[in-house]
Amino acid sequence: MNPVYEKLMKCYESFQKKIDFKPDVAIVLGSGLGDYANDIDVVAELDYHDIEGFPVSTVPGHAGKFIFGYVKGVPVVCMKGRVHYYEGYPISDVVLPARLMKLMGAKILFLTNASGGVNPNFTAGDFMMLKDHISLWAPNPLIGANIDELGVRFPDMSHVYDEDLQEILQKTAKDCNIDLKEGVYAQLTGPSFESPAEIRMLHNLGVDAVGMSTVVEAIAANHMGMKICCVSFVSNAAAGLSSNPLTHEEVQEAANIAAPKFRQLVSEAVGNFRQLL
Ligand code: HPA
Repeated sequence: MNPVYEKLMKCYESFQKKIDFKPDVAIVLGSGLGDYANDIDVVAELDYHDIEGFPVSTVPGHAGKFIFGYVKGVPVVCMKGRVHYYEGYPISDVVLPARLMKLMGAKILFLTNASGGVNPNFTAGDFMMLKDHISLWAPNPLIGANIDELGVRFPDMSHVYDEDLQEILQKTAKDCNIDLKEGVYAQLTGPSFESPAEIRMLHNLGVDAVGMSTVVEAIAANHMGMKICCVSFVSNAAAGLSSNPLTHEEVQEAANIAAPKFRQLVSEAVGNFRQLL
């Protein structure tokens, strides 16, 4: 068996042995947004350490567990803490959790992240819904023998971010009085923040926000036929667009301030996703 698939199935078996729950929506929380887990009617939790072979995150602010429960009556699995490529894991490990949540039963993947604003019209604290993405430097997670059990060799990427989910997100944001910006997100590898020249390059490429996650997970989930959406929290102006040096603490502090609004948007949107399930 393909070793990547074998590892995934081992994790799935480990999950099945411990948890009897079928989520419809999978939620991935970005930097500092992990608090959202408090808004779930929790029925079970599964520590990443307790899943055989599961990659375990090392970044402060990225606690590691799956939370199972209900948001507005919708069964969800929520990842509290994700795996980043910059931690040194092979890319197949970085996307393993997204694949695993699809095997658990999730049809919708709701990704979130923190990002640097590249679009000069964005300000720190904005929310941006992804219309599309650009992947730079991180390897494509589908490289290697195709896992036919998961999807096709050459998946179409024309509509990675589901249009129905986008419509629901925008409508939900409006109802919540949240100005939900839209744009293109680029994933670079990190862990260093970008240089000002790189940000100018990204701006010229049509990028609106930049971060260190999400795109590889979206590629793997799209391969498996999941409906995907993503809201990025613009925690800071990208390098060179503000005079302050960037720090991880600044990103987390900004996320803490935005958390209540963010939680409201996620919960209301998940409730409204029911019409697509
Ligand atoms: N760059 C990359 N990733 C980020 C940033 C940034 O400016 N802010 C939060 N995550």
